[in-house]
Amino acid sequence: MCGIVGYIGHQEAYPIIINGLQRLEYRGYDSAGIALYDGTNIKLSKTKGKVSDLKNKIESEISTDGTLGIGHTRWATHGVPNDVNSHPHSSNSGDLVIIHNGIIENYDSLKKELIKRGYTFKSDTDTEVLINLIEDVQKSENLKLGKAVQIALNQVVGAYAIAVFDKKKPNEIVVAKLGSPLAIGIGDDEFFIASDASPFIEYTKNAIYLEDKEMAIIRRGKKIKVRKIENDTEVDPYIQELKLNLEQIEKGGYEHFMLKEIFEQPSAILDTFRGRLLSNEAIIKMVGVEDNMKKFLAADRIIIVACGTSWHAGLVAEYIFEDLARIPVEVEYASEFRYRNPVITEKDVVIAISQSGETADTLAAIKLAKSKGAFVFGVCNVVGSTIARETHAGAYTHAGPEIGVASTKAFTTQITVLTLIALRLARAKGTMSSSEFRHHLIELETIPGKVEEALKSDAYVETVSEIYKDSKNFLYLGRGFNFPVALEGALKLKEISYIHAEGYPAAEMKHGPIALIDEQMPVVVIATKKGHYEKVVSNIQEIKSRKGKIIGIVTKGDTSVKELADHVIEVPDTLECLSPLLTTIPLQLLSYHIAVMLNKNVDQPRNLAKSVTVE
Ligand code: F6R
Repeated sequence: MCGIVGYIGHQEAYPIIINGLQRLEYRGYDSAGIALYDGTNIKLSKTKGKVSDLKNKIESEISTDGTLGIGHTRWATHGVPNDVNSHPHSSNSGDLVIIHNGIIENYDSLKKELIKRGYTFKSDTDTEVLINLIEDVQKSENLKLGKAVQIALNQVVGAYAIAVFDKKKPNEIVVAKLGSPLAIGIGDDEFFIASDASPFIEYTKNAIYLEDKEMAIIRRGKKIKVRKIENDTEVDPYIQELKLNLEQIEKGGYEHFMLKEIFEQPSAILDTFRGRLLSNEAIIKMVGVEDNMKKFLAADRIIIVACGTSWHAGLVAEYIFEDLARIPVEVEYASEFRYRNPVITEKDVVIAISQSGETADTLAAIKLAKSKGAFVFGVCNVVGSTIARETHAGAYTHAGPEIGVASTKAFTTQITVLTLIALRLARAKGTMSSSEFRHHLIELETIPGKVEEALKSDAYVETVSEIYKDSKNFLYLGRGFNFPVALEGALKLKEISYIHAEGYPAAEMKHGPIALIDEQMPVVVIATKKGHYEKVVSNIQEIKSRKGKIIGIVTKGDTSVKELADHVIEVPDTLECLSPLLTTIPLQLLSYHIAVMLNKNVDQPRNLAKSVTVE
């Protein structure tokens, strides 16, 4: 994890770096730091805490002038979050300074070697080992910084996106990447470095995304030189035009990014199917699917790999693919799949789902599947992300930037993309009649409007949240397509309010969880009309007779559940396979309001990070 930012050019580096770090806080926020260089002195300030803490500290500590600088916001891996372990880290001579996102796995043996050679360490970090290794290489062979970085990185096992500068070279920053993202923004005689393009989007629309095992020498006023770390060959970098704009990454009047992103779902879902779903012509156009139709149709099964919320979207997709396209689906936690010696063949299609496109476990699962000859299709939100590039083909969700750590619009747009794929395959396989197909397309087109309507329950959900905010446990139940939504609802509550919550298939309740139910236990039950409704109503009866408090998520106009439940939250009617796109909405709002009422940091919950680029 961690976010990195750097600048070299003709502007003051400090405001660019501090604003950039604030935009990257979703990647980590337990400590932050900046090193600025005015051509004579390196000025370094760092602190435990958020970028705002750094901002408060820095102006009293150092002068912030200088047109070269690097900054870091951290999610701790090696060493507890404190001032000393914060980045940037300096080499023993004080000449070299580094920021690093990733993990140096062999840092311990490298550190022991360096200690033998007289180096001392202030922090517990792997990064301080790396900067001293670079210094050691540079000194022992009297090398330029770029060469020393290259030789040092060839001794390193692990993952990194780094930016390094040398006090003796006031016009140069060296960057390198393996396994962690690194973008370089190209302005007019100025360069920006960042974990993603958001820190420099107002300055330039041109960027290079370094590939794994590439490094770049960035010199003030000169052309960037990109090289392979392994063998020093020069690479002609591809300059990408960025589509992101500033408004997309700001809060737009909402109190939190999470709330903004929940309310963006109607337009995000629309953007996901825009140009792909053509209901008048009764077709779905998805280039990545069309170009690889033979592989999809020949597949013995589809294996979905993902983590967290994306894994829940995969579970919803399992129901949809099997129901509509009659293709067997297995959904795997990427972290288990990669270590399980799974049986994969060339006849498998693997779909990897990831909002960030950077999740380390999902990436490793993709590499494993590719090595066994499977065709791998990516469903990512972040354009140009590592997973988007590592997969054979894919479809973007087009949800726009998701900044809140708790995933919301990514989930519903992932389900939307996966539904489009399932429908397209169903049509190609002939498992759906043309009228059923057309009916599904027309219904899917109404979903953004129905999400808008579901969002109108916000004020009522807030009232319900007030009643249950002090509960110590929650149970979430759902069946069929809505079982994964129960898991997702529980995850949302856990991660932002720190209340313990469990999601279960409703019928499974009587095999254990029912023992937990008493008058203290709120049970959120998804009981929409088309999803095994009568069975779920029976489950509600069972909860009621044990005095559990029932919050029902029901189809508009429902009367039966209303009679039994303590509260009902209505969502519009739709096809059963599309209902997760609506039932999710009140669950997101419930977790949001409870977390706000409990004064939790909604957008940056403790111990979490938006992009999990470590195992
Ligand atoms: C939960 C959440 C995480 C992510 C998970 C995978 O709200 O955000 O569970 O879903 O870390 O991340 P991506 O989708 O970026 O691979």
